Amino acid sequence: MKFSADFSLAEELDQRDPLKHFRDKFYMPLHKDGRETIYLAGNSLGLQPKTVRKYLEQELKDWEDLAVEGHTKAKNPWLKYHEFLTAQTAVITGSKEEEVVNMNSLTTNLHLLFVSFYRPEKNRRKILIESSAFPSDHYAVQSQIRFHGYDVSDTLIEIAPRDGENKVRTEDIEEFIGRKGEEIALIWIAGVNYYTGQAFDIERITKAGHEKGCIVGFDLAHAAGNLELKLHEWNTDFAVWCNYKYMNGGPGAIGGAFVHERHIRDKDLPKFLGWWGHDKATRFLMDHKYIPIPTAESWQLSNPPVFQLAALKASLDIFEEAGMQKLREKSELMTSYMEYLINEKEGENIEIITPHEKNERGCQLSLRFREGGKREFGKLIENGVICDWREPDVIRAAPVPLYNSFEDVWKFAEMLIGGG
Ligand SMILES: Cc1ncc(COP(=O)(O)O)c(C=O)c1O
Repeated sequence: MKFSADFSLAEELDQRDPLKHFRDKFYMPLHKDGRETIYLAGNSLGLQPKTVRKYLEQELKDWEDLAVEGHTKAKNPWLKYHEFLTAQTAVITGSKEEEVVNMNSLTTNLHLLFVSFYRPEKNRRKILIESSAFPSDHYAVQSQIRFHGYDVSDTLIEIAPRDGENKVRTEDIEEFIGRKGEEIALIWIAGVNYYTGQAFDIERITKAGHEKGCIVGFDLAHAAGNLELKLHEWNTDFAVWCNYKYMNGGPGAIGGAFVHERHIRDKDLPKFLGWWGHDKATRFLMDHKYIPIPTAESWQLSNPPVFQLAALKASLDIFEEAGMQKLREKSELMTSYMEYLINEKEGENIEIITPHEKNERGCQLSLRFREGGKREFGKLIENGVICDWREPDVIRAAPVPLYNSFEDVWKFAEMLIGGG
């Protein structure tokens, strides 16, 4: 589409937006002057669906009225509350229902799945990771390597963009795997890099890894609810994500996990066990002979945290109504519009380090300031824009198709360039 920097285009795009009414389903934080903020931080914490309270109140009421009997007699019986989210989670991630489960938190799930999927052997023990992966991933991976008795210095391999570039090229990842794959036990990459906003080609990286006998897993913190994922079709071995960003599950929301069906019934996979991974029909016989549930649920340890799941369910119902394909269409348009406005109105002091290609990014644009970035960020906050600052010189801004408007994007660009 051909853009213009005129405000009338923002208005027109909003009028034409088939998803515009979804904004009303969320609470938009207010600025100190009482106006709605321009909220571009859904890549960090998604907004609260207005329906969350109702979903939580249902469970509070059942707890009040039924106490322990709520496990089986609540309107949504608590023993299987996580199951009410499975089908929608499978749709969001492009998975089969048996391949996904909502449990724990992202880093906890990373460790649990590394127990199963990081199985170093003498000549194949390395882990390949992006050099700028999220710190929690680095810490977790380092600790996994040490836990297996290896040295991080010669076991962890980091892949980085070429000098002077911001994205890691897929062909460089493929070339590296082709050359060193036999030494690599596990490839661990983000679906979308938290800093640059680069979306990685999950299918190609997985294929390259499999050709060399590596296991390939993904951190989808910034991809779930942002990109159209096809984890099953892409043959992904395993993945984890959090649900508080694009998924709007609330602060510290329950995490999600995917295990490809070909691994689910593999009895040889090492696994840390808990009673919620045990066969549902015999769980309460309380014997000590573990029988795994034949789905990704067998990685569960504990009984489901109903309030966290209820909050996430409110958001999943909204996603179902909107549809991931339509959300992605709007997202591509909004982010391209934001990119256009920033380039059009200025350019000199700001470098967009997120890839330009649509299939290499999600909602987020990361803006690198040549100078004065923190000052500009301070001005934005002062003027009611909520985005975030990442050291040393980047503002991240994510127009989210569920609740942002083209007007939000226009106003953001105007303040960014005009200085508010
Ligand atoms: C890419 C990525 N990985 C991991 C994490 C850590 O998530 P958690 O605190 O839910 O374990 C985050 C948190 O923002 C993240 O962005």
